[in-house]
Amino acid sequence: MCGIVGYLGQKSPVPLIVDSLRTLEYRGYDSAGVAYLDDESLLHVYKASGKLLNLEGILPNELRLPTLPAESVNGHRNIGIGHIRWATHGAATNVNAHPHTGSRQEIALVHNGIIENFYELRQELQAKGHQFVSETDTESVVQLLEHLAETETDFSKVILKALQKLQGAYALTVISKKFPNHLYAARHQAPLVVGVGKDQNGNDEYIVASDAVAIVNHTNRLIYLKDGEIVEISPAGLRIMNLQGEQVEPVIETISTDPLTIDKKGYKHFMLKEIYEQPDVVRNSLTGRLQSIHQPIWILGDTPEQEGRFDAHLSAINRIVIIGCGTSYNAGLVGKYFIEELVQLPVEVEAAGEFRYRNPFISDRDLVITMSQSGETADTLAALRLSHQKGAKVLTLTNREDSSMAREADFVMPVRAGVEVSVAATKSFTAQITALYLLGLSLAEKRQTLAPEQLESLKAELLKMPARIESVLHNTEPLQVLARKYGQARDVLFIARGVNFPVALEGALKLKEISYIHAEGYSGSELKHGPIAMLDSNVPVVSVLTKGPVFEKMISNCQEAKAREARLIGITNTPVPNELRDTFEDILEIPESVEHFSPMLTTIPLQLLAYYMAEYLGKDVDQPRNLAKSVTVE
Ligand code: G6P
Repeated sequence: MCGIVGYLGQKSPVPLIVDSLRTLEYRGYDSAGVAYLDDESLLHVYKASGKLLNLEGILPNELRLPTLPAESVNGHRNIGIGHIRWATHGAATNVNAHPHTGSRQEIALVHNGIIENFYELRQELQAKGHQFVSETDTESVVQLLEHLAETETDFSKVILKALQKLQGAYALTVISKKFPNHLYAARHQAPLVVGVGKDQNGNDEYIVASDAVAIVNHTNRLIYLKDGEIVEISPAGLRIMNLQGEQVEPVIETISTDPLTIDKKGYKHFMLKEIYEQPDVVRNSLTGRLQSIHQPIWILGDTPEQEGRFDAHLSAINRIVIIGCGTSYNAGLVGKYFIEELVQLPVEVEAAGEFRYRNPFISDRDLVITMSQSGETADTLAALRLSHQKGAKVLTLTNREDSSMAREADFVMPVRAGVEVSVAATKSFTAQITALYLLGLSLAEKRQTLAPEQLESLKAELLKMPARIESVLHNTEPLQVLARKYGQARDVLFIARGVNFPVALEGALKLKEISYIHAEGYSGSELKHGPIAMLDSNVPVVSVLTKGPVFEKMISNCQEAKAREARLIGITNTPVPNELRDTFEDILEIPESVEHFSPMLTTIPLQLLAYYMAEYLGKDVDQPRNLAKSVTVE
């Protein structure tokens, strides 16, 4: 959450920074701001609450034109920083927007993360005469920098001393009018990437950002800073040091930029485009991993050595612990149902924010799987590190192979969803469960927990799923009708059982996230233990009924709800007997599949229902209020 950008080169910094911030809006949109030094080293700051559009609206014309100021004067390079905010400390106001400056307006700073000892620092600095204007934790850092700069003339030492005093998480970028040719950036438990490129005239330029997506339009040569590293960029080039002030050798990686390209491709919203991409996402996820029903499954898909190392570890484990947040957590639950049943191996699923603070029992006989679309979620990353401390090997299932989790995990299984822009996760959920299905099948294959014919039949079924998802996506009209019919509901319940129980959770989460309608997901069996008290003729109950061991149980749960006058919407992959059809006010039929893989299909109508309801209500589908896609604070 929060996105930061810094630029040093020969181009006009503000338009470039604003363009880069646009790609980071998934990280927050409570406010936006930029600061730059002009040719006389005067510091200018512009900031506005709300979306980036508001900031663009207040920028003077000359700062919107990419060619002005054209060339640097007096040997000064063009330098600036920018920020997109997801509010933690202090409301989403102009004054709390970044960049923040010190009392003397000499230094400007943007920050992502939380400074935990901000209050102590604030009190100390106030006692020394520094005037604070905002309610943010960030302002303590910039005031501290200004304070230290009063007695220290080497700015890199000022930065170092300040960082040594900070507790908490940060990625930050700093400029100072006293050192107009210098851009500083540092990270500790928040992501930060440095792009090292050349402009059209062959001059060196550097872009620092929270995510490579903000850089790849300019260069594909990247340095992924590690925790506790500080980068100093100046006309002399780039220098990296650690928090002890020791030099660190920069490692520049050249990445492929294609997967990071962002385009709505004619869809009204990114979310709708991403929902429609799901058949291809599953195809991509299976490619090279499940080629035919007769070949063994290949999990990591990189090198035979890596696969061999992973196999060796898989044969040694006696438990799997899946950890994630939000949609990734829900995907993990689908994995539990599937893997535990097929492989008869205990699988636990944990919310990362709980796991990391409860001294969990983890050993080297566990495989910990961290599930994270972004690979940057602070709690999940901390859970990964805790698992390492406790001696477990970690497999990360992530959509970002360049993320912190991918870098720190022992094994990485890319989920191959492609860039997901909409804050509400859709295709990444489907990609994650596909990856877990592959892992489960591979384990069943290696441990021989299924008969060969059963295994082959499941492989054949999985290969058919992309076409079935396509057919669900061809029948969206009834969902648009349902969205209009139930769009004014105040509360909606989602119920399901078995492997579709996590789908009920995910359906409710999607609806809450983008329509702000109160929604809850429950196991059908839990309905009578409390939630049934909410039901009356105003409450729609979306029930997922799939052919399999819990179909009849679900029908009974639906009848219990109907007896309380609830309005039942059935999503089913098997015809509901005529005598029971009256239980439902609406029924949507989807293609049949084996029970195990049915979440790949049942999820799609729930994503679309949430989408069409939010759209009907005129909500901001891709950027729902209060949320951010990548939660890098705990
Ligand atoms: C945020 C997003 C959710 C996402 C969750 C976990 O809350 O808004 O859509 O599911 O973080 O993100 P991750 O990147 O770890 O999957």
